[in-house]
Amino acid sequence: MKILVTGGAGFIGSAVVRLAVARGHRVVNLDALTYAACLDNVAEVANSPLYTFEHGDIRDRAALDRILETHKPDAIMHLAAESHVDRSIDGPGNFIETNITGTYHMLEAARAYWTAQGRPNTFRFHHISTDEVFGSLGPAGMFTEDTPYDPRSPYSASKAASDHLVRAWAETYGLPVVLTNCSNNYGPYHFPEKLVPVVILNALAGKPLPIYGDGANIRDWLYVEDHADALLCVLERGKLGRSYNIGGENERTNLKLVKTICGILDEKRPRDSGTYADLITFVADRPGHDARYAIDPARMNTELGWHPSVTVEEGLALTVQWYLDNETWWRALQARDGVGERLGKTG
Ligand SMILES: NC(=O)c1ccc[n+]([C@@H]2O[C@H](COP(=O)([O-])OP(=O)(O)OC[C@H]3O[C@@H](n4cnc5c(N)ncnc54)[C@H](O)[C@@H]3O)[C@@H](O)[C@H]2O)c1
Repeated sequence: MKILVTGGAGFIGSAVVRLAVARGHRVVNLDALTYAACLDNVAEVANSPLYTFEHGDIRDRAALDRILETHKPDAIMHLAAESHVDRSIDGPGNFIETNITGTYHMLEAARAYWTAQGRPNTFRFHHISTDEVFGSLGPAGMFTEDTPYDPRSPYSASKAASDHLVRAWAETYGLPVVLTNCSNNYGPYHFPEKLVPVVILNALAGKPLPIYGDGANIRDWLYVEDHADALLCVLERGKLGRSYNIGGENERTNLKLVKTICGILDEKRPRDSGTYADLITFVADRPGHDARYAIDPARMNTELGWHPSVTVEEGLALTVQWYLDNETWWRALQARDGVGERLGKTG
């Protein structure tokens, strides 16, 4: 299959690109190369005859038309987005423009291309979204695909809007779509402004490990390479027009997650004295910080037979080792704008 992946120089997109090429798919990676992108993320496939890079912006309709016409993909996997909640609090404008307007341009370009191809039923527009569109859970319950949308941050509201656009283009124009809403990812190539890499890298530098609020917020942690596998599974076997919630089946509080990372580091790179957990520091909470996300994985499990391959402890051990082995990669990104600063503090 020939797949156009948007956002393929980012964290999850690059995992999709690497896996799709490894499985023999032809991949066109369309990315604007924002602050969050890194072409080193796809270095291992850069010389493959199956791989092409297109530097372009999803808000640029003319560029989208040209790229679709040139490469004639069988499917689009749309991951390009502004993705950091804290940055959305400080500056929501980019999130509205890329996540909503950009998705609108992607849909219109895809619709024109699909129509010109004779509206093949085999074409897919796969929209990749987040569980954050469902809002915040109490101690019980889980997000199913039928949970009403209740986004609470500028990021999640912009992703919710993009999901609505995708469903509208399916209903109104018949565009063949599938959607996925997944939980928090972690793993190799995670940009060093997100919780897991911040904790690993601060620990290695002997700096405080910042935990928002009391650390009781719960997330369902999904290893990024499992996510990429799930996305290809939905693309190939998901039912037309349907959405799928993808979780790691690994709910943890932020505090427990950070303590797990500390324990792994204590084994792999012991401190001269004490444990890395001594560096844990509680800081002011994020405004509107959602208490709990949890994914009901039943549809992925029963319809598609998909399950995550690793527990969060196994995935974190792989991730910590990857950061220990790839210092050149993360050192370069730590110099980028805003990285290492506390963002999104004011509401
Ligand atoms: N990271 C998570 O835990 C998570 C969880 C659920 C869903 N998602 C969704 O998965 C997708 C990928 O997330 P990620 O964590 O890999 O994000 P990321 O920030 O690491 O990467 C986003 C990529 O999109 C590109 N991009 C941004 N604006 C663009 C534009 N206007 N035109 C073209 N390219 C543009 C960036 O250059 C970057 O390479 C997003 O849609 C996000 O909402 C992420």
